[in-house]
Amino acid sequence: MNLDQLSSIDELYVVCECANVTYKEILEAIKAGHCDMESLMDATNAGMGCKKCRSKETDPADERAIHLDEILALAKAEGLCKS
Ligand code: FES
Repeated sequence: MNLDQLSSIDELYVVCECANVTYKEILEAIKAGHCDMESLMDATNAGMGCKKCRSKETDPADERAIHLDEILALAKAEGLCKS
């Protein structure tokens, strides 16, 4: 996953199926300052169920197209996080 791929994700893609949280909602939470995993999960409820959306490590069958840790890393690289 690189920056081009990050921007190519459909904003309505459901990143977290357990909590029905879209990519757009994840990005909005990041832009609002939730720039670490704990804060992002608290703000969106994503990642609190089966945990497959958290990272490739917690999604061994690669069921999710993108994971919270990848979105956070790329958002930081794009300057979406102030910290
Ligand atoms: S898909 Fe996010 S916790 Fe299950």
